[in-house]
Amino acid sequence: MSKVKIGVIGCGSISECHFQAYQNNPNVQVVAVCDLKEDRAREKAEKYNASHVYTDYHELLANTEVDAVSVCTWNNTHAEISIAALRAGKNVLCEKPLCKTVDEALQVEQAVRETGKFLQVGYVRRHASNISVLKKFIDAGDLGEIYFAKASLIRRLGNPGGWFADKERSGGGPLIDIGVHVIDLCWYLMGRPKVKSVSGNTYNKLGNRSNIEHFDFYQAADYDASFNTVEDMANALIRFENGASIMVDVSFSLHAKKESSQINIYGDKGGAEIEPELSIVTERHNTIINIDPQITSPGFDFQGAFNNEINHFVDSCLGIIETNCPVEDGVEMIKILNAVYKSAAEGIEIHF
Ligand SMILES: NC(=O)c1ccc[n+]([C@@H]2O[C@H](COP(=O)([O-])OP(=O)(O)OC[C@H]3O[C@@H](n4cnc5c(N)ncnc54)[C@H](O)[C@@H]3O)[C@@H](O)[C@H]2O)c1
Repeated sequence: MSKVKIGVIGCGSISECHFQAYQNNPNVQVVAVCDLKEDRAREKAEKYNASHVYTDYHELLANTEVDAVSVCTWNNTHAEISIAALRAGKNVLCEKPLCKTVDEALQVEQAVRETGKFLQVGYVRRHASNISVLKKFIDAGDLGEIYFAKASLIRRLGNPGGWFADKERSGGGPLIDIGVHVIDLCWYLMGRPKVKSVSGNTYNKLGNRSNIEHFDFYQAADYDASFNTVEDMANALIRFENGASIMVDVSFSLHAKKESSQINIYGDKGGAEIEPELSIVTERHNTIINIDPQITSPGFDFQGAFNNEINHFVDSCLGIIETNCPVEDGVEMIKILNAVYKSAAEGIEIHF
């Protein structure tokens, strides 16, 4: 089997998870890397034996050796780079979110249709091993009809700053950065129902809490305590045409007692707690029972999930499978996220 030749565009933090996963896949060769910052690109090229280094992604895309690319850049460049890559004949793994606006999302979808290439959205949580386990239970009907999901990712001091805090480059704060993961995961497990309406709230009350002392938190490379244009927290109620609903709340800054991560789905035959750890709930013989699957990673295993995501992308490039995170799922999520921001700004429920 000939190897899939990969180019990685954007060599910052998350690219390391892509590089490591590609390195672990015997059917892959990373041949090209690109970053606006040449030293960052060179460092990855040396570490992962890529022979071509670029600072302009157009040049990487002009390299006919490259079959497929990972797009690991700021959110405001995802659409432009993905469209150019598809038009250059490359398959694309685009980090989440697909892009910032619905217009952009539709343009990316159009490029997929016109080129016959595919784009996989980087919904890494779908690829966690606990989700593969849960999916088997769901597909076998053990949870019945899933009609409600509740997801909460709370950081009390977790605005990374840099481009994450710049609405122009990120598209927003915790909703588009971490909310996208959990809303997508619930939506995927519910069977991807069609969205009917969205009601949301966003708050800018605490800012990035750069006043807090004696407490470490993750900061982006270009952290600037004086700059922040994104929301502190967001919550939303998302209704679907089949009557199902998702409630979500996410924050970068909040007066919460501790960080927390909770994702639950509820069906008419059973439910599941996904985070912090997978547990399935049902009833038998008039008794409520909790089932704790005995698996190596009952919680979210970050690098393991990335390895699975990249293997899935590579197998899709090889034509062995069809990606389970197609561009359409990116478009639908951007519609939902944009509707939450619009609902919050206008104080109304958005109907589709
Ligand atoms: N799947 C996940 O769990 C996860 C986690 C973190 C980040 N992400 C996503 O990954 C992307 C990158 O995030 P990050 O944390 O690595 O940010 P980062 O700032 O660490 O890295 C981004 C890199 O992209 C480069 N870049 C920006 N525009 C470019 C362009 N036009 N051409 C070439 N290089 C360009 C920057 O110089 C930087 O090195 C974002 O879309 C983010 O939402 C996903």
